[in-house]
Amino acid sequence: MPDFTGLELTGKTAIVTGASRGLGAGIALLLAKRGANIVVNYISDGSRERAEKVGKDVEALGVKSIVVQADVGKMDQIPKIIDAALKISSTGKIEILIHNAALGLEANLVNTTEELYTTHFDANVKGPIFLTKAAEPYLPQGGRIVFISSAGARLGVAGQTVYAATKAADEALVRVWAKELGQSHGITVNCVNPGPIATDQWFQSDEQFLKDMQPLIESTPAAPRVGEVSDIAPLVAFLCSDDAKWTTGSVLSANGGLYN
Ligand SMILES: NC(=O)c1ccc[n+]([C@@H]2O[C@H](COP(=O)([O-])OP(=O)(O)OC[C@H]3O[C@@H](n4cnc5c(N)ncnc54)[C@H](OP(=O)(O)O)[C@@H]3O)[C@@H](O)[C@H]2O)c1
Repeated sequence: MPDFTGLELTGKTAIVTGASRGLGAGIALLLAKRGANIVVNYISDGSRERAEKVGKDVEALGVKSIVVQADVGKMDQIPKIIDAALKISSTGKIEILIHNAALGLEANLVNTTEELYTTHFDANVKGPIFLTKAAEPYLPQGGRIVFISSAGARLGVAGQTVYAATKAADEALVRVWAKELGQSHGITVNCVNPGPIATDQWFQSDEQFLKDMQPLIESTPAAPRVGEVSDIAPLVAFLCSDDAKWTTGSVLSANGGLYN
């Protein structure tokens, strides 16, 4: 039986969507630390400096980075992300695709607007579908796709009508693509499902939502706190490793035991 092959990702190229801050930045830096070249994607003008700083921090780890401003939900911007990855790839391939970028505004059913629906489904579902379709010709045998899901997909959190539906859709996509890209392509497709994490998305939640969530957070079996980026990123990096080859179509809970 082969020995533990380690967590190394040397020579691979990873696209991390939404890598200017929060969990995406943490994942980008950890994959870089393990040897991967990184596409740092972001969307807003206000995040340019932050994204460039992530790119510099990646390069300081001795690998290549390229920073790409692109809205994953806009079809005409997806080729920018693929072209950027191919520019830094030394294999002509894109070995790792992390679907992390997402919108997560709260709205109860009665406050849900068509605009909220469209913007969230575009960023959280349409973006990953068409970015994966565009990447497919470059994803080699042993390729890895990881989605970041959310408590919303499983727990039924009030105020998350649209967000929860997008994340449940992402979890469905991993099960479908595990089959479509499995035997034929040798690619694994998985989700990591974090509970609340201390990032901008969490702290931007409205006061009432944070108050309502407090009892849940205090009941977290592993510890009475929200998760940190450092609780989640290593699990994403593990799913990108060779050792994770027998895990596909699955959802890895990373929520301190709050739910499965
Ligand atoms: N925070 C939580 O409590 C929590 C819990 C469970 C799951 N999650 C999930 O974890 C992931 C990361 O969340 P986070 O808390 O780190 O979020 P965050 O701090 O709000 O950061 C979101 C990132 O996504 C980018 N982004 C948003 N829309 C985009 C688009 N259409 N195209 C490209 N990039 C886009 C943002 O770019 P700009 O900087 O340019 O805006 C930013 O880099 C998301 O999938 C989220 O749903 C978060």
